[in-house]
Amino acid sequence: MRSALFESYFGVVPKAVAIGHGRANLIGEHTDYNDGLVMPVLLRHHTVVALSPREDNLIRGVSDRFDALNRSVDSPCDGSWLDFVTGALTVARQNGFAVGGEGKSGINIAVSSNVPAGAGVSSSAAFEIALLRALGALTPAMFDTISPADLARMGQLIEHEFVGTICGIMDQMVAAVAPKAQAMLFDVRSMETRCMPLFTGHDFLVIHSGADRKLSEGAYNERLAQCNKAAGEMGVASLRDADLASCTRLADPLLQKRARHVISENIRVQDAAIALETGKVHEFGQLMDASHASLDNDFDVSSPILNSLVANIKAAGAIGVRLTGAGFGGCVIALCSREQGDYILDRITSSNPNAWLVDRIVGL
Ligand code: GLA
Repeated sequence: MRSALFESYFGVVPKAVAIGHGRANLIGEHTDYNDGLVMPVLLRHHTVVALSPREDNLIRGVSDRFDALNRSVDSPCDGSWLDFVTGALTVARQNGFAVGGEGKSGINIAVSSNVPAGAGVSSSAAFEIALLRALGALTPAMFDTISPADLARMGQLIEHEFVGTICGIMDQMVAAVAPKAQAMLFDVRSMETRCMPLFTGHDFLVIHSGADRKLSEGAYNERLAQCNKAAGEMGVASLRDADLASCTRLADPLLQKRARHVISENIRVQDAAIALETGKVHEFGQLMDASHASLDNDFDVSSPILNSLVANIKAAGAIGVRLTGAGFGGCVIALCSREQGDYILDRITSSNPNAWLVDRIVGL
């Protein structure tokens, strides 16, 4: 793999180049931080990280999307894209694959990406996993001791401690583990993954609503706190252990709704895995529709723009459609027969001028 950006900016070939992909989630939303089940798939969109160690403690970074920046490896985080780099260097050091030595832990780094940012398709996780893989490639032996799941945990740590989002682990796990064009059923509690072929003759369309995810971080953390509170009041370690009947015992109707979404969504993911395995495409579509309704009514993470896009795509003939990712804007994902895909896209992009196709995920 080459990095034209690195070569043109630094004038030499990088020591390591690595890649991380964005994702769309087929079903299983807001379940990962409740020890639950998710079923994401990789997008073709990806981020490429190219880097070389330096003889000092400087990070010199160039990006095809953000301003070029320099700072010391010891500088505090400041909200810029270099926070990811500082995070990756620190987490790598904690896990025994440090760059350079005393006074020589800096890097030159170039980042190119076609993963849309703010779209809910995990541009952050793509960047984190590409960074960690590139740092790991400087010390190839480290992949003998660090598994892809470890890499995902390290990526999540970067997000928690250096970027400031207390996300679940779905995005980093799919970027670190999943093969292309397969659904990855992931049980967050056991950390087990099972990759499954997609439907033949059917595609998943990932369509951006045109509305970026806004103010989502506070609302995301609020949902996390509500889920933990609901689990605590129900006397279970996490909502993964709760059932639908017992959530009616919660006194607060809001907590009841939050718990009902998570519990029912875990059931839907299990049913969706069976539908996928047995080729029951319409059942899968119904589960996607039910997932969206639950995210809208019980989890309150949809929006008028997302709801109207979902309704329009459904009316255009999709088998199932739902918001994908955290919600509050960003993308929807629709399941449709291969023949109908173009018609649906034409109809949607002419009636919703702000909507655009991010990716068409085609089963092999
Ligand atoms: C974001 C988070 C994930 C997950 C989804 C919602 O993408 O990063 O961990 O919680 O939202 O399913």
